[in-house]
Amino acid sequence: MDIYHVMLPRKIRFGVGCLDTIGDEAKELAAEHALIITDPGVYEAGLVYPVKEQLSRINLSVDVFSEAEPEPTLPRLNAIAEDLRKYNYDLLVGVGGGSSIDTAKGLSVLLAHGGNGQDYLGVNRVPKPGIPVFALPTTAGTGSETTMIAVFGDPEKKVKSAIVSPYLLARLALVDPSLTYGCPPKVTAACGMDALVHVVECYTSIKANDFSDALALEAMRLIVGNLRTVVKNGSDKEARKYMSEGALIAGIAFGNSSVTAVHALAYPLGSRFHVPHGVANGLLLPYVMECNLSANLPKFAVIANMLGVETKGLSLQEAAERGVSAAEALAADIGIPTHLRDLGVPKEALEEMAVATMDINRILVNNPKPLTLDDVRRIWQNAW
Ligand SMILES: [Fe+2]
Repeated sequence: MDIYHVMLPRKIRFGVGCLDTIGDEAKELAAEHALIITDPGVYEAGLVYPVKEQLSRINLSVDVFSEAEPEPTLPRLNAIAEDLRKYNYDLLVGVGGGSSIDTAKGLSVLLAHGGNGQDYLGVNRVPKPGIPVFALPTTAGTGSETTMIAVFGDPEKKVKSAIVSPYLLARLALVDPSLTYGCPPKVTAACGMDALVHVVECYTSIKANDFSDALALEAMRLIVGNLRTVVKNGSDKEARKYMSEGALIAGIAFGNSSVTAVHALAYPLGSRFHVPHGVANGLLLPYVMECNLSANLPKFAVIANMLGVETKGLSLQEAAERGVSAAEALAADIGIPTHLRDLGVPKEALEEMAVATMDINRILVNNPKPLTLDDVRRIWQNAW
């Protein structure tokens, strides 16, 4: 790809303790009434308190909505917007994983422009900037703080859909690794695999460019070097810091390239069987890699090397193939299930999921090789 453009949040702050600067950032906006959006788990873990305290210090009136749901849905987003419209918020602060941050991004549009979530699904359907969003991830993985995408499930149609617009980019991505210190091992593992899948996919996407490649490789180094450690020992602050940094850089990388078939397959798995996004991605990664290898052996050989495979003396084919095993081993080491049947997915569901995957064209078009329905069927069967 010779021509590419780069989209970023207005500002990114990274580092342990950078949470303390959030008040200065809010001051710059002259905000008066802020809403913190989070989920019950993050709220109970006490992570909202320091955010609220910092914002209250500058005499901002701060409310908290702590009922964001995992894997948010359009009906729920619409209902929340309906309830909150009367408060005239001028700053939204998403504190949590991708679900809370995506909810904040969705509310930014709905509270500013009215209508419901369905009106804005698809690419570039948001007419103008919404309410400014500060995005504070409490997990290392999603990258939502850096991207112009917010994903919502549609329970009726059993699909996941996305609002994609540059107006969804956060005003501030504030990534303070200390917010991830208490993240439980299972969530740490799932989110870390999500981040790894972001870099593997954006590096091999047909939208990959020199900018996204440079970031993808650095993010891969940070994630592969620290993921096992943070799952095994969540109190390793150094490893937590590097995972947060890796996930942040991965978010910028895939936000300026794309994800590919792993994410396309993960959507129907998430919407039908409520498998967490990172678990679905981690499980599916080796099977999709196996299918995609032939489309870009040199890049898959590099990935193998980044995953710790000694590739010296191997052919590109051999190196790339060993990368698949290395991805599988990493997922297994951190407790990600390796087969769909381990998650209780019945074999009879595979055909429906294969057909549903083919509908995720927005993502599939970026896969390193064009996938037929038969290719997708094979991936689902292998993963079962
Ligand atoms: Fe993801």
